[in-house]
Amino acid sequence: MSPLQQKIIQRIKNKSPITFETFMEMALYEPDLGYYASGNTRIGRAGDFYTSSHLHPVFGVMLGKQIEEMWEIMGRPEDFRIIEIGSGMGYLCKDMLEYLSDARCMIHDARREREIYKHLQYIIVELNPAMREQQKYLLADFSDKVRWVASLKELGNIRGCIISNELLDAFPVHLIEMEEEIKEVFVCLDGEKLVEIKNQPNTEEIDKYLKEFSIELPKGYRTEINLRIKEWLRVINDVLSEGFILTIDYGYPAWDYYSEDRNRGTLLCYHKHQIVEDPYLNVGEQDITAHVNFSSLKKWGEDIGMKTIGFCKQGTFLISLGIDEEIARIHKNSSDYLFEVARIKKLILPGTLGETHKVMIQYKGSGEPKLKGFSFKNLKEKL
Ligand SMILES: C[S@@+](CC[C@H](N)C(=O)[O-])C[C@H]1O[C@@H](n2cnc3c(N)ncnc32)[C@H](O)[C@@H]1O
Repeated sequence: MSPLQQKIIQRIKNKSPITFETFMEMALYEPDLGYYASGNTRIGRAGDFYTSSHLHPVFGVMLGKQIEEMWEIMGRPEDFRIIEIGSGMGYLCKDMLEYLSDARCMIHDARREREIYKHLQYIIVELNPAMREQQKYLLADFSDKVRWVASLKELGNIRGCIISNELLDAFPVHLIEMEEEIKEVFVCLDGEKLVEIKNQPNTEEIDKYLKEFSIELPKGYRTEINLRIKEWLRVINDVLSEGFILTIDYGYPAWDYYSEDRNRGTLLCYHKHQIVEDPYLNVGEQDITAHVNFSSLKKWGEDIGMKTIGFCKQGTFLISLGIDEEIARIHKNSSDYLFEVARIKKLILPGTLGETHKVMIQYKGSGEPKLKGFSFKNLKEKL
């Protein structure tokens, strides 16, 4: 039995039972032992799962283009910050900074750094020390541009853009199931084995959430509730004085998330590129995720004064930003064009990350900025 399992078992023995949310928090974030707190996190080919930034650098290029437009809209501030939360291996940061410092940018026939680059600083918020080391290694060429903090709370009075890719789906969630009335899933012990029991919800916030998003669940329906997003937005609101929040993740709006046919929820685990449905296996060695209810991001953001600028599928967003121009450029320059295009397709087409992943951009500031990433009006998603 692993030290993490022992710790969870001890915690249950001391304070039985624990909510699934507490179990997920320990499995992912228990200092030194959890999946995201130890040296165990593996993203990419030799790891447990891929993210968009591992598929092709063009993902970072397109986000760099969107950031550049945000900087223009904000009146080209001299102290613009990009804050990326949960950078994983660091590829998105590298690809964006390569684009934003770009030697490819031709202005009046001269190769120059883009104007924005002089005015920007990139801050990575990463709680995993092993990931931080990996990021520092990968980003050695940008050591003058990037700095690291362990928590958003270390920052304050920021103008710029807060960006995350596949962060919110790793926040611990409450698991609920509808019986005669709504029940919450708790984890307890059968001997030394982790087993579930259902009981009255541990917090009134669960009932409040179901009412807030008009969720009515039929008997036997099991799903998840991510309450941590609310606190995350509150902290962002405290540190961001003006700017954008760009969130990319697996997810749906509430009407789709809690639809009748999704009656077993979206909780999944990833281990060596295999989907594992049992979160009590490989504890600390596998990722546990749940899709994001983007309606909660919108609603809770708007409750504290943020504006929702747009929401759509990742594929739509990248096409609106002009990914086809980048594909044409790669066609001219690449020695392995077909291989590259095959990977880029996985960022945009239906049935790939282009469809499973959604993009939401929120704004704190005056006016209603229009962004190129949402310029395909007829492909907007219903929230
Ligand atoms: C699924 S990975 C995504 C990595 C990366 N964004 C990518 O696209 O490849 C989640 C990342 O978020 C980090 N993380 C999780 N919770 C966090 C938090 N509350 N604050 C900062 N980083 C966090 C993890 O250590 C990991 O680097």
